[in-house]
Amino acid sequence: MTARILDGKSIAAALRGRLAERVAALAFRPGLRVVRVGEDPASGVYVRNKDKAASAAGFDSGTIHLPADTTEAALLATIAQLNADPAVDGILVQLPLPPQIRTEAAIAAVDPMKDVDGFHPLNAGRLAAGQPGLVPCTPRGVMHILAESGVALRGARAVVLGRSQIVGRPMAQLLLGADCTVTIAHSRSRDLPGECRRADILVAAVGRPEMVRADWIAPGAVVIDVGINRLADGKLVGDVDFTEAAAVAGAITPVPGGVGPMTIACLLENTLDAAIARRQLA
Ligand code: GUN
Repeated sequence: MTARILDGKSIAAALRGRLAERVAALAFRPGLRVVRVGEDPASGVYVRNKDKAASAAGFDSGTIHLPADTTEAALLATIAQLNADPAVDGILVQLPLPPQIRTEAAIAAVDPMKDVDGFHPLNAGRLAAGQPGLVPCTPRGVMHILAESGVALRGARAVVLGRSQIVGRPMAQLLLGADCTVTIAHSRSRDLPGECRRADILVAAVGRPEMVRADWIAPGAVVIDVGINRLADGKLVGDVDFTEAAAVAGAITPVPGGVGPMTIACLLENTLDAAIARRQLA
């Protein structure tokens, strides 16, 4: 069998196009501010890409770049200013933060109504409780790929490999909300390959290059690869051995060009949602 390739790049481009049309029809420009602290080189690339995509879709986008020795109090003061600024609809504090700043403190300081990362405990709790709120961008993007690809979710066995706050846990909640039977497997699971082999839908989000092999995958399964790992030779690979998996799976996302492009598109979607929700309350 050769798997169908699920083209996240084109699904993301179409979503950005729909968002741009909706933004153009508004009487205001939704505002997104990304806060970057220090000089993490990967963060620099991510932040520039977010800014470019947001501006291209008609958002009022801006980056606030603070020095690496910024204190936690100074970062919280910056976040408080953005919380109070009526022109700002979405705030994203780029991770990782320097060691003198507690990540949880920064996340908790963001107004939950402007929390376009969906990382605030209030939004995480809402998701777990099945209530509406802002949902983390990458899992939201995976749900779009599944929907656009016509993958049947109700009653399907979904296995999420990885239990991070950013991907694994919210991913499992979204799949549960879509009536999947959900298993969260992780580094301490007794039989990882066996757990993964039970999946109709396997979402790999562990950050270990090419960990998922052909014999972890049930024939015909849908494989979603969230991993983006750079090998020593510079090559980008996912958490799934793509060549092996594509011979067994029914459908699979590539790396790059699968889940990655969806994350930024869903950041814009969250920013538009936040802008509309906040104005409806005002
Ligand atoms: N760093 C890597 N991924 C992310 C993300 O999704 N959000 C934020 N804020 N920082 C990140």
